[in-house]
Amino acid sequence: MLRVAVLVSGGGTNLQALIDGVGSGSIQNAEIVKVISNKSGVKALERAEKAGIPSEVIKKGDFEKAEDFEKALIDSIEKSDAELIVLAGFLLVLPPALVKKYENRIINIHPSLIPSFCGKGYYGLRVHEEALKRGVRVTGATVHFVDEGCDSGPIILQKAVNIIKDDTPETLQKRVMEEAEWKILPEAVNLIALGRIKVVNGKVEMT
Ligand code: GAR
Repeated sequence: MLRVAVLVSGGGTNLQALIDGVGSGSIQNAEIVKVISNKSGVKALERAEKAGIPSEVIKKGDFEKAEDFEKALIDSIEKSDAELIVLAGFLLVLPPALVKKYENRIINIHPSLIPSFCGKGYYGLRVHEEALKRGVRVTGATVHFVDEGCDSGPIILQKAVNIIKDDTPETLQKRVMEEAEWKILPEAVNLIALGRIKVVNGKVEMT
């Protein structure tokens, strides 16, 4: 069983998709052992509690130095013995030491088709605002491994979503979640848990 830690910052609908995937068997050979949030009082924590998953809040503001926050985050993950870390709407950049330590063992869901609308400053609703501003006809979501850059790691899965007339950032965000994110994130975790994903020369190979 692959031990999975999920890092969250907000609503936790992607966390819920993972909980449901483990529950229904669409994610095989994996268990969610811990949820870590960098914000207190968020819905994601309620979802973890309801599913009986231990959770911890580690807030940047509670630490004097950024290094202490980063150390607390790394310690918490290490203590959970997680083999895979899933960023499910975790809106902070990870400490480089963590990324290095868990090379090709951290994945992120991003609400666009990378390399469009990604990188520094592109998160949450902002991504959809920019897609609509640019007038693209198709957007979507991407699951990728996390490397030292921002949204630059090897791509595991992508799913396209059409933009329709009168879309607002909010309606588009909802459709991208429903049609893409909640499908490809559990699918990626399942593929990794089944040992079907490897990274060769910076690209994902799937068997
Ligand atoms: C999701 O749309 C996720 O793709 C996005 O934040 C939202 C979190 O929703 N992540 C990013 O923008 C990362 N750059 P959730 O808390 O309901 O899963």
